[in-house]
Amino acid sequence: MHWSFILVFAVLATLIFIAEVSPLEPSGSNTCTKSVSYTKTQTVTYIVSASKSYTTWCASLPPRCTKYRTYYYTKSRIESNTEQKIVRYCCSGYLQEDDHCTPICTSSCNNQGTCVSPNICDCNAGWMGSTCSTKCPEGRYGKGCSNKCVCKNGATCNKVDGSCLCTSGWQGSNCGSKCNEGRFGQNCTQSCKCKNGAKCNAVDGSCDCPPGYKGKTCEELCGNGKWGKSCFQNCSCMNGAKCLSATGQCICTPGWQGSNCDSKCDEGRFGQSCSESCKCKNGAQCNAVDGSCDCPPGYKGKTTRLFIDAKSGKLLVRERTSILTLLESVKRNGVICRRFVM
Ligand SMILES: *[C@@H]1O[C@H](CO)[C@@H](O)[C@H](O)[C@H]1NC(C)=O
Ligand SMILES: *[C@@H]1O[C@H](CO)[C@@H](O)[C@H](O)[C@H]1NC(C)=O
Repeated sequence: MHWSFILVFAVLATLIFIAEVSPLEPSGSNTCTKSVSYTKTQTVTYIVSASKSYTTWCASLPPRCTKYRTYYYTKSRIESNTEQKIVRYCCSGYLQEDDHCTPICTSSCNNQGTCVSPNICDCNAGWMGSTCSTKCPEGRYGKGCSNKCVCKNGATCNKVDGSCLCTSGWQGSNCGSKCNEGRFGQNCTQSCKCKNGAKCNAVDGSCDCPPGYKGKTCEELCGNGKWGKSCFQNCSCMNGAKCLSATGQCICTPGWQGSNCDSKCDEGRFGQSCSESCKCKNGAQCNAVDGSCDCPPGYKGKTTRLFIDAKSGKLLVRERTSILTLLESVKRNGVICRRFVM
């Protein structure tokens, strides 16, 4: 038997790639291309024709003739070819993420900075430096630290948005205004407690007392013979006079005059500020305190006198002479008059 094979064609080839699943190629920016060779394996199906001999009667007589009959059948074989193809890949310095290429920053970008090209960080507002780990320098804020802070009076400038955190005693968007009257502290949120018209320190709320007052909130008068700013001055008032805390002015007790109240009323005057005139007749002496007239004739010279005790302000009776024998004692106009045996 004789067989002959003729390869006819391979148009019915079914390509079956056996190569492993090729990776997803990146697209968009920062992609590079290269040519790569790869092995393409496919199963090629082809049709083969063959002829087979057979014998038949040539002319209905022996000998019989040999004849050939052609028939077709399909065969397949596996073919491997090395081919070239262009593939996209992420350029140097970029890393593929899904189907796009992202830049690689070897030292990562801190504080939410973004890696925008290989080893280049785009820093957030308030940060600078190659890895965004340096705060904006003093007086600067914002993206790239390119804005100038406008905060005043020691306020802290927010490096991100430039807003000002005022120190105590200041307010306003740039902290350029003092707290309003009666307010103090951070953001001027606290109320002053100063009394008697004292000025309040806007920073710490301390009170600057006016003359004549003392205490934390200036609630107390000086007292203790003191007057003036910080109650530093000594009062010089005499004879029981009252000393005004604010000015040191002396308010004399009746019968006394002068800035220190160290002078008796002039002859013929009595009372508060020596403002009243004596009404005593017949040459009787007038009491400077209450205007009472001195003892009548016959008692003269042997009388008691009234004094105001400088400390207590009390009316005192004191005898001028005590070695004589008391003969009579009368009260006249509030004055005790005594007659003595001479
Ligand atoms: C002052 O205001 C700032 C900004 O509003 C705030 O952060 C801060 O806590 C405030 N301080 C006080 C003591 O109220
Ligand atoms: C007040 O008096 C005291 C004691 O006499 C004295 O030490 C002080 O210096 C005086 N102060 C003034 C301001 O004169």
